[in-house]
Amino acid sequence: MAADQAPLAKELSPKPPRPRGRLLVVSGAVTVVVLALALGLGLGLGLRKNGGSNPSASSPTGEPLPGGGSTTKLEDWRLDIRQYTLDMKWDISAPPVTRHFDLIISEGQGWPDGVVRDMLFINGKFPGPLIEANMGDRLVVNVTNQLTKNATAIHWHGIFQNGTNWYDGTTGITQCGIPPGKSFVYNFTVEQFGTYWYHSHYSTQYSDGIFGPLVIHAPEEANARNLYDHDQIVLVQDWYHDFSTVNLDTYLAPDNENSEPVPDNGLINGMAYFNCSLYGADSGRICYDNNTYSVLSLEADKRYRLRLINTGSFAEFEFSVDNHSLSVIEADGVLVHPQSVHRLPIHVAQRYSAVLTTNASHSTNYWLRAEMVTFCFTGTSPVLDPTTKAVISYSGNATILPSESSVDWSDPRLTICQDLDESKLVPAVEKSPPPATTLWRIDFSFGIGDHQLDRAKVNGTIWSPLINTTTLISAVDGLSGKANGNASAWAVDGQVSSFSADQFVVGVSAEAVEVVDILLYSLDEGSHPFHLHGHQFWILQKGSGPFDWGNYYTNIKPSDPRTVANALRRDTLTIEPYAWALIRFVADNPGLWALHCHITWHMEAGLLAQFMSRADVLRTMEVPRDVRALCSS
Ligand code: C2O
Repeated sequence: MAADQAPLAKELSPKPPRPRGRLLVVSGAVTVVVLALALGLGLGLGLRKNGGSNPSASSPTGEPLPGGGSTTKLEDWRLDIRQYTLDMKWDISAPPVTRHFDLIISEGQGWPDGVVRDMLFINGKFPGPLIEANMGDRLVVNVTNQLTKNATAIHWHGIFQNGTNWYDGTTGITQCGIPPGKSFVYNFTVEQFGTYWYHSHYSTQYSDGIFGPLVIHAPEEANARNLYDHDQIVLVQDWYHDFSTVNLDTYLAPDNENSEPVPDNGLINGMAYFNCSLYGADSGRICYDNNTYSVLSLEADKRYRLRLINTGSFAEFEFSVDNHSLSVIEADGVLVHPQSVHRLPIHVAQRYSAVLTTNASHSTNYWLRAEMVTFCFTGTSPVLDPTTKAVISYSGNATILPSESSVDWSDPRLTICQDLDESKLVPAVEKSPPPATTLWRIDFSFGIGDHQLDRAKVNGTIWSPLINTTTLISAVDGLSGKANGNASAWAVDGQVSSFSADQFVVGVSAEAVEVVDILLYSLDEGSHPFHLHGHQFWILQKGSGPFDWGNYYTNIKPSDPRTVANALRRDTLTIEPYAWALIRFVADNPGLWALHCHITWHMEAGLLAQFMSRADVLRTMEVPRDVRALCSS
């Protein structure tokens, strides 16, 4: 588990920061450079200020103002975000092909918002590269671990992996970590389309930079494509100025009263402004006063599909664009009938596509706002500005900051962390849930456990990843009789008792495909974005207080169309404080599937359950040799 992960030693940094920054620079001298806004397209590479020589160019608020016009090169470790602009000429109906990708995981120092820290990179860059494919394609992804101390594993968030559970990338469940210096090939076919992402599923590692967008196309999106002219990925996330293991150790330390680490900043496509003067000279921080806003440089009078992905660790955001409403057309890979919103709440690991039309006045630029819902934090941060901003520009001048005519929506903000109301999101392709055949109630809470450490409990179990084996390998060997013991003890509908006490595993579809309801019940004051691996589930009901069993058995379980027809399907939903949700999935996917809170701190505190599906098929499945080998290396 995470506690054995060491923070990066300083000497591991492959290269020193560029010399043109200054230590703890206070704002003042400002020259802003607009980078690579060629073609007027794509999320701009940022309005950036560096140590220039125009002391008059700062706004009354102290925010940096654009001024210069020269072009500067990106730091080597920054991904050229122009690759997050999708090519509308992509052939969504092309015959299936095999696509090869290489992801090299490495460590070093970077300063996404100007504050230098140890972080992790993919192919030397942050954030990770776009992986784009068509439904039916095979993805062959060679992951090489160049970390010095820690293992890694890459999860394809939202991808079904039907028949390839061992490539789901979940440490301790579907694979052992890829050791330092080793490579491992993920090889699977994508049978779905929409907006997904990939990220490390080893401890809190993705929080340090190991993630990227994953977009799958299909002929089924042809109608939706009539709703927009351009297609753009926008990653929104919280960001910490310390390595995740430092925060994790603090969080899991005794007597911490479940107080999650509060983020220091937000990032939009891996970049944001930070006011270096917030750190005093004795803070020990190196801060380059050279990062400001990302710029989304757009064409006027066009429709842009923004594919929002919350790649953060803890914070929910409300996303909005001044003076522009957004039309939501997708939630977690499921196309929905267009729904207009002013503010779009997006919790950790969720995705939405929202169409932005560039048809307001062209005489100014506009703020894009990602507001952290700070009500969900139990602590505070002295340096956090909860509003992360970027600039939307179709004025013809991407170097000016928005004027006063860029106005935030006056709609009230969220006071608890919650999802956009599901009843407003109606799937474009109707797919009503079949009647349920079984129901599992899963209660979770946080408690002071042994040794007074804060830990999460799922039906009383505190999850911790298995070491040197996985629940998948244990189950396959147990079911097939390869392991000693009674194979029938494994093939159960119900809690599988053959695992160690830190694994809460529910067996479903032991003999035939079942339709499973989960009543997920929170006994905690926090909000929890829960993700089920390998499936999309229907959200049938949400509420707080007692659950209405009468209504459940009469209307919901048998799928009375008046109650559950065409309910929203997705793969990540928020459970509100002391509230519950009833979700349904078809357990037709053989394997061990995690159901967990996606807040990295909570998963590491143990907030994870598993479903073991299709024991009848698992019994006959062969875990590939290279997957088994990871557990003995
Ligand atoms: Cu986004 Cu268990 O994962």
